[in-house]
Parts: sequence; structure tokens; C-alpha cells
Amino acid sequence: MKHDNGQIIVFGGTGYYGRKVVEKLVNKGQSVKVVSRNYESAKKIVGEKVEIFQGDVTSRETIIASLKNVSCIVICLSAMSNKLIGKMKQIERDAVLTIMEEAQKANISRLVYISGYEIREQLLQALRIPEFGAIKIEIESRISQSDFNWTILGDAPAYEIFFAFVKNGKMTVPGGGLNAIPSISAEDVGEITAQVAIRNDLKGERIKLTGPKAFTFPEVAKRISEISGKKIKHITIPLVIINVVSFILMPFAPFVRYLYKSLKMLNNFPQDLAADVPKEHQLLRELFEYEPETLEMEIRKRIKENKI
Ligand SMILES: NC(=O)c1ccc[n+]([C@@H]2O[C@H](COP(=O)([O-])OP(=O)(O)OC[C@H]3O[C@@H](n4cnc5c(N)ncnc54)[C@H](OP(=O)(O)O)[C@@H]3O)[C@@H](O)[C@H]2O)c1
Repeated sequence: MKHDNGQIIVFGGTGYYGRKVVEKLVNKGQSVKVVSRNYESAKKIVGEKVEIFQGDVTSRETIIASLKNVSCIVICLSAMSNKLIGKMKQIERDAVLTIMEEAQKANISRLVYISGYEIREQLLQALRIPEFGAIKIEIESRISQSDFNWTILGDAPAYEIFFAFVKNGKMTVPGGGLNAIPSISAEDVGEITAQVAIRNDLKGERIKLTGPKAFTFPEVAKRISEISGKKIKHITIPLVIINVVSFILMPFAPFVRYLYKSLKMLNNFPQDLAADVPKEHQLLRELFEYEPETLEMEIRKRIKENKI
């Protein structure tokens, strides 16, 4: 399998998911270009075989120049960090629309966009966080109405989400994390996305990327305890505490407010979607050639690396 009529550009190719996409594309012998704000650190992340285009996607000139000799675009941009959260609209919305505009002018037809697992506007309204996910909803709508040969990937959170709350034998979760959520390894996201970018038969498809099963946080704490032989105690802290703290911190640390909204979403994850996770995963197994990494495998890997 090879995408053989030009280079594949990965916007966000140094990120948590993006770097795995790049690695898998390179392993398949593809010519890959990555756009990054920092040439040196990008080189360390993606290696020698990848062309690095240094630039900021908030500049149209960067986008125009980066698209030279490209035939497929993969977008894995994110502003979900303390430093970038204030520029979320410019990075995740405006830059993506500029990429689409300039790609059209440059006659690039293949576009792969990484989004959230499934973003329901009604749920966001009901949770009173309508702005959370609004950009992705708008971009998905613009892409699906476009003439591109597009594929949208609805990515589940990485397994990392569970381990981020584990410290000193405790898994302390705001809100408890009692609703089951889908999750996936970054390796699998990379492999599937690379196959999607190369294939030409997935035009107009929105595909959900998830591991085999949805888990609650207490279930994962139990699984880690069983596999490691060390007790991981699941502790719930009220979400209202994060709500108040994030509100107070908003002028100085707006990212904490965004985290609060993510936690609210996580704790209210629709259980009909969770119930469908095995079915969605089975679909991936039928569509793509890969051996999935399960959460159990991830736990064992982390134990071996002394990370738990
Ligand atoms: N991580 C998850 O668990 C998860 C779960 C579900 C969905 N997703 C989706 O997956 C996508 C990627 O997320 P991620 O977590 O992998 O992102 P990430 O690790 O935060 O990486 C962000 C990327 O965006 C690039 N970037 C940010 N601002 C830029 C700018 N102004 N100019 C050029 N590049 C810029 C960064 O490049 P440089 O720093 O090199 O410039 C970096 O490669 C997002 O759409 C996210 O919503 C992620």
C-alpha cells in the first residue's frame, strides 16, 4: 500500500498523536513533511527521514509555502496546552480553514482531519459548555460540505488519560470518572491514520478510532491493581471544587477552565456511545490491517518501564 503521487504533509506532526502518524507513514516508505514552530525540537521528535517546514500555522504565508509538492494533508493540530489555549481559535479554526482554502487553490484533494470521538452539540448545551467542541463541530461541517476527498477521524482519548490521574498508589479523579469512556493507544491512532492517509477509498467517511472496550476510571484502577499486584485506590473529588478553582484562576490560567470543561464532558460521556465501542472497534478491525494495543498491554508496558 503506498500513496505514490506526492508528499504527505502532517500539520501537528510533532504532537502526541501526530508524531505516531508520521512514524507509521515513514515506516511505510512515504515521503512526509511536518510543519512545526521549532525546527530543532521537531527534528528530535520525527527524525532525519522527515522534511521539517518551520513555521506557524497562524501565518497564511507559512501555509502557502508548506503546501508545495504536497498531495495529501493530515491535520492533527491542537491548542490544548497552557501556552496555546488563548490562541485556540486562530490555531484550531482559522488556520484549518486557511489550509483548506490554500489546498483548494493548489489542487490538493486528499484531506484527513483528526477530531474528537463524537461531539454532540445538544449534550454540550445541556452541560452548559456549548463552546467546548464548537470549533471541531464547525470544521467538521465545513469539511463534509467541501469538495475534498476527505476522511474525518473521531479519535478517542489516549490511554494516557487514565494514567494521568495515578500517583502514589492513588487514582484521584475529579467527578470520579464513573461513566465508561472509549480510549485507544497512540500507536493504533498512528497506524490507522497512516493507512487512512494512504488509502483512496475512504472518501466522505467519518470513522471512530477506539480500543476494544469502554472503561470507567474505577475499572481501570482495579485492572492496574490486579496486573501490578499493587493496590491503586480510586478516589473521587467533587467536580465543583475544580469548577470554583478554575473560575478563580481564569484570568491567569485559562487552561484550567478548559480542563474543567473536559472533565465535565468526561464525567457525562454518553453511555449509548460507550455501549457501541466494541462494535466501532470491530469495524476498525475489518477496515484496517493492524494488531490493536489493549489497555492491559499498556498497563504491562508501564509496569515494565517503572511508570506505575
Ligand atoms: N491526545 C488525545 O488524547 C486526543 C484525544 C482525542 C482527540 N485528539 C485530537 O487529536 C488532535 C491532536 O491532538 P494532540 O493531543 O496529539 O496534540 P498535541 O500533542 O497538543 O500537539 C499539538 C500539535 O499542534 C502543533 N501546533 C500548535 N500550534 C501550532 C502553530 N501555531 N503552528 C504550527 N503548529 C502548531 C504543535 O506543533 P509544534 O509544537 O511542533 O509547533 C503540535 O504538533 C487534536 O485534534 C485533538 O483534539 C487528541
